[in-house]
Amino acid sequence: MKQYPNVFVFDHPLIKHKVSILRDKNTGMKEFRELIEEITTIMTYEAMKDVDLIPVEVETPLERTVQYRVPEESVAIVPILRAGLGMVNGVHRVLPTARVGHIGMYRDEKTLQPQEYYCKLPDGIEEKKVFVVDPMLATGGSAADAISALKKRGVKDITMMCIIAAPEGIERLVAAHPDVRVFASTLDRCLNEHGYILPGLGDAGDRLFGTK
Ligand code: PRP
Ligand code: URA
Repeated sequence: MKQYPNVFVFDHPLIKHKVSILRDKNTGMKEFRELIEEITTIMTYEAMKDVDLIPVEVETPLERTVQYRVPEESVAIVPILRAGLGMVNGVHRVLPTARVGHIGMYRDEKTLQPQEYYCKLPDGIEEKKVFVVDPMLATGGSAADAISALKKRGVKDITMMCIIAAPEGIERLVAAHPDVRVFASTLDRCLNEHGYILPGLGDAGDRLFGTK
């Protein structure tokens, strides 16, 4: 796949280790959910690397000092329902006060076209740094449409985080939203004829919520 300046794929042994367990069809729902959260937390560290800090005065037991903090109220998480919900706790572990908005999208199984069915966003989201989260970036249609919906509502600073991306999904997302930063823990080979990622991990929503 072509290299893109706004696309960051992790090459970290710990992520490779965890993703290998995630892919295993014998990994149960509880461990699957925990791994999605852990990988998301690791990705959040990297995705926050360029965030602007604000100076604060702190009194240590010894003296007053100026230190730097993340303005946590300036961050929002927007999971794409359903599977994106599985990543929210992973971000909250390091940014516990981040507000959460929800966008409901499902892929029509025949056309593979995403359909929006729900959208509820925190007040003031236009001014926030927004992390859109969804474990799977397959054709990229759901993510591209969710991001268009956010932009329509005035959001400017958007980062997409996914666990597994297909090259097709990255290409589509970059073409539609070249300004959006994309963090993918893993880049897979391709999509199959049903729009599933190979080697992938199957249906992320079903594995997170035990629906199949
Ligand atoms: C899955 C996944 C993404 C989407 C990715 O959701 O969680 O949202 O497919 O596919 P795309 O990149 O081709 O759009 P699904 O539509 O299965 O809904 P669910 O989360 O409710 O299971
Ligand atoms: N959605 C999933 O949950 N898995 C895939 O492989 C593709 C889309």
